[in-house]
Amino acid sequence: MKGIIRKVGSYDEMSKIVALHVKRFIGNSQIGVLGLPTGGTPLGMYKELREDTRLNWSKVATFNLDEYVGIDEKHPESYKNYMYRNLFSHIDIDENKVHFPDGEHYDSRITYFGGLDFTVLGIGNNGHIAFNEPGSSFESTTRLVDLDERTISDNSRFFNSIDEVPKQAWTMGLKTIMDSKEIFLIAQGKSKWEIIREAFYGEITEKVPASILQKHKNLTVLYCD
Ligand code: F6R
Repeated sequence: MKGIIRKVGSYDEMSKIVALHVKRFIGNSQIGVLGLPTGGTPLGMYKELREDTRLNWSKVATFNLDEYVGIDEKHPESYKNYMYRNLFSHIDIDENKVHFPDGEHYDSRITYFGGLDFTVLGIGNNGHIAFNEPGSSFESTTRLVDLDERTISDNSRFFNSIDEVPKQAWTMGLKTIMDSKEIFLIAQGKSKWEIIREAFYGEITEKVPASILQKHKNLTVLYCD
């Protein structure tokens, strides 16, 4: 395990730390390529980022980790909608450099932009990163996947009922993610701590997709209660 695993005092502190690293990255880079997550955990980070009006996003390209299939992009819970609501509508980013996975060509698009420099991840209670569910190949690239029952149930909190949760999604693969030069993973809560222990202190196995991150050379995991 080459990375750093750090417990921080609060959700607020975790959000501020990860946002600070994204800001430093944006400030230092000529053309920066960011991999971005959605879900509940990064909401505090996005708040920090959109409230910093000094940031110059004009040279930044973004690639979201995943996107649901089966709901319109205008649906409030589509990840495109989430990203515009929480970040893109508030900053000066070039919309031509904003990307959501919608086909296997996504990896060549990332390569065209020079590869992912800095990627922020959440983690699912079943060990998924992006939507690479248990059993995903460590060699996987962007593809269409069926969502795990656990993921559908966990994400039903964002929908009116569990029946409305999409059953499929496009996701970056584990190889796509591992090729990112730097990775931050953020997590909150007791059940996430349990899966972090399994993923980062246990065996590297496709049954726990996040466990492949143990092999990443520049990884930081931030966790809070
Ligand atoms: C979403 C994504 C997922 C989430 C994970 C945790 O883009 O990549 O892997 O990070 O499901 O979600 P939350 O933060 O809602 O617990």
